[in-house]
Amino acid sequence: MSMNVSFIGLGVMGFPMAGHLANAGHNVTVYNRTTDKAQQWTQQYKGNVALTPAFAAKDADIVFMCVGNDDDLRSVIYGNDGVLAGMTDGTILVDHTTTSAEVAREVSAKAALQNIAFIDAPVSGGQAGAENGVLTVMAGGDETVFAKVQPVMAAFSRFSQLLGEVGSGQLCKMVNQICIAGVVQGLAEGLHFAKQAGLDGEKVIETISKGAAGSWQMENRYKTMWQGEYEFGFAVDWMRKDLGIALDEAKNNGATLPMTATVDQYYADVQALGGGRYDTSSLLARIEALHKK
Ligand SMILES: NC(=O)c1ccc[n+]([C@@H]2O[C@H](COP(=O)([O-])OP(=O)(O)OC[C@H]3O[C@@H](n4cnc5c(N)ncnc54)[C@H](OP(=O)(O)O)[C@@H]3O)[C@@H](O)[C@H]2O)c1
Repeated sequence: MSMNVSFIGLGVMGFPMAGHLANAGHNVTVYNRTTDKAQQWTQQYKGNVALTPAFAAKDADIVFMCVGNDDDLRSVIYGNDGVLAGMTDGTILVDHTTTSAEVAREVSAKAALQNIAFIDAPVSGGQAGAENGVLTVMAGGDETVFAKVQPVMAAFSRFSQLLGEVGSGQLCKMVNQICIAGVVQGLAEGLHFAKQAGLDGEKVIETISKGAAGSWQMENRYKTMWQGEYEFGFAVDWMRKDLGIALDEAKNNGATLPMTATVDQYYADVQALGGGRYDTSSLLARIEALHKK
């Protein structure tokens, strides 16, 4: 069924996600802070551009958002030009930004005052997942509301799951990032060791990827890591934001995350090497920089 939907934030992720909604036959209105990108979007897909989040949200059954961090989210939601100023009673707000669970709860409470339902719905799968429409969506919120948005999100996702009340999607995304941090550091150390041992990297990975050491990171990143190339996806600056969110949440729930805290500092080292925009597999660049010293 075709719906009126809006998409706020046409970045690496939002641009193709909004495109999939248009290709699925929905009536899409987009907003992007840098207007050029929104114009560019309408050259590629069928839809309208709005000049403020509030205008974009007007007449929408569902408003989707995918911006940077907690404060970016607040800046597109609140105020006279924010989405809440444009949305009407009984509609749904869905946030795909990776944020804290706290801001998800805050926005949900503010939206509820206007009888607007909120779902936090961070994603994983990266740029390629967004472009190919095969993202994983981790959601928090009301079951009935989720049942309404799930078929619409299917335009850009392969799997979506409701994890619990508002904030649970973000908590699940934190688990995702915690798991990735350790896996990438292990892979970086393994490849460094293989180089030191004079082994053929390709043969090593071909062999061990079929066993217990195999991982998405190994399959998708080992080749470029072996070649010292780090331009292939989720940036270190974003990862530090996400690990910071997870470490803050751990202070609230009492979780002990020694490996996450350590790897977060390793990523700070990568930033200091000028690698803030490198992808997360650049932990190997840090090891090699230390090794050369
Ligand atoms: N990239 C990935 O692989 C990936 C994977 C999973 C999750 N995520 C998460 O998805 C979110 C978006 O990532 P991305 O890679 O798409 O980022 P991006 O390419 O940097 O895009 C960010 C988008 O948010 C907009 N924005 C940022 N701050 C804003 C503000 N204060 N007011 C209005 N608009 C603002 C930007 O507008 P302008 O164009 O004007 O700058 C842009 O449209 C992040 O939370 C990230 O952690 C990313």
